[in-house]
Amino acid sequence: MSSATGRFTVLHVSDVHATEEGLLYGTVDGVGRLERVGDYARSVGMTPEAVVITGDLIQRGHPGAYASVARACARLEEIVGAPVFTVLGNHDEPAAAASLPGHHHRHYGVEHVEGHRILRLDSSAGSLGPAQLAWLAETLREPYGAGSIIALHHPPVESPLPSLSKQGLADAHELLTVLERSDTRAILAGHFHHPLAASLGGIPVFVGPSLAYHQVMDAGPDTVAGHDAPMFSLVQLTAPGVSAAAIDLRPPQPIFALPITSPSEKAENTTHAP
Ligand SMILES: [Fe+2]
Repeated sequence: MSSATGRFTVLHVSDVHATEEGLLYGTVDGVGRLERVGDYARSVGMTPEAVVITGDLIQRGHPGAYASVARACARLEEIVGAPVFTVLGNHDEPAAAASLPGHHHRHYGVEHVEGHRILRLDSSAGSLGPAQLAWLAETLREPYGAGSIIALHHPPVESPLPSLSKQGLADAHELLTVLERSDTRAILAGHFHHPLAASLGGIPVFVGPSLAYHQVMDAGPDTVAGHDAPMFSLVQLTAPGVSAAAIDLRPPQPIFALPITSPSEKAENTTHAP
């Protein structure tokens, strides 16, 4: 929790899809985009307390990319001054991913950052399974500080897109049963390549956008397509609540920009207020 802002901020990145060489679909340099996230955060003064990357760190079939992903994460840690935590997605290769920091022993774990608890889960198989859920239940048995954040790849909720039906976490019901009456403040996920907000049993769920490509939302029920719109999000926890904002890594040119010199002027500037 930043004493200056009263907020605990998570910079949430998902679905990097890094490749060993060349560009994914001739366009996407996942590792390069991870580096740009750090540059972007620094340039606009973002000061997150933690960075969470919710899976699909590599494109399937490119296990050699983990070395460059690890280097990019280390650089990101240095630039934003906050720890970077990763989980695995369905494109990830668990054996090769054991080389990543935080993954040597197993692909899930618990982290404690400034009074908050971040639980990294492994849904690379599409589900969590009984052993991991039992570990989660035991870990959450005692509340911690300002609460817990769950990070996993597969959302425990379905996408509204017909082309992505039944792509959510296979044992979502079992996960939510474990989270009942726990101190969980938010669930962060990825996988859909489009942002989605939900509430399950009173717990906010934020599906982050993808750093690699954004789902074409009107591609039709039998087509999955992507367009080049790299995004990440900022999740902020305060004492009373939690919010998430999606951010374009490569925004288009602004159509207007006005200086704000004082809070009162900001309040009075109704002409251009959003
Ligand atoms: Fe993905």
